[in-house]
Amino acid sequence: MRRKLVVGNWKMHGSRAGNAELLAALVGAQPYGADVAVCVPGVFVGETATQLTGSAVAWGAQDVSAHAQGAYTGEVSASMLAEFGCRYVIVGHSERRQYHAESDELVAAKAESALAGGITPIVCVGETLEERDGARTEAVVTRQLLAVTARLGARTSEIVLAYEPVWAIGTGRTATPEQAQAVHAVLRAQLAAACASGAQMRILYGGSVKGDNARLLFAMPDIDGGLIGGASLKAAEFIAICRAAS
Ligand code: PGA
Repeated sequence: MRRKLVVGNWKMHGSRAGNAELLAALVGAQPYGADVAVCVPGVFVGETATQLTGSAVAWGAQDVSAHAQGAYTGEVSASMLAEFGCRYVIVGHSERRQYHAESDELVAAKAESALAGGITPIVCVGETLEERDGARTEAVVTRQLLAVTARLGARTSEIVLAYEPVWAIGTGRTATPEQAQAVHAVLRAQLAAACASGAQMRILYGGSVKGDNARLLFAMPDIDGGLIGGASLKAAEFIAICRAAS
């Protein structure tokens, strides 16, 4: 039985005072019947670690360098994140693929560098509306995941996968539980072919998950939790989603 995981992706939101309030609310609402984490902007990782240490809420970052160290101005390595206790790092979010031209290969390299630093990469895949309308959903997510499994081999078992249809992110247009499940099943089969423990791996759904639609999504057989953007910025809403996963 896979334990559900709910991860907040704060994106480029937050402030020191606001974060302290939000994190205090999340700690105050524990215990959760699911694993819970927040992926915060890099500059807030240290304070987040201080506030969450000893709680049931894990933390992480939203991006990581593909390199271990060196002359890469502006980048942050996995070992640096690990020093601050990050358990997770999001890699290949569609906003990074779109606005920072991250290729499938770069995403795979980042996943590998996260693992090398002892951090679990949450690898995001997902199709655009144009790709869905062109019946290319399966081909796109399969290609995106293949780059990662080809690079990681047996270590694929150590990642968390997130299916986030681009057309559902921040739009209020959630995939139906059936639409999401159909893609998750495809991804599950691909994971199972890539590594022995594919059946035990967690595949999260992301894209306009809210307190009122989370339960039905999480009830689907291959949906093991969520990657939550906008709704993770509001304590009550995020806590409701975490409860829906319990
Ligand atoms: P959303 O974002 O929940 O605001 O749609 C999800 C994500 O981008 O991870």
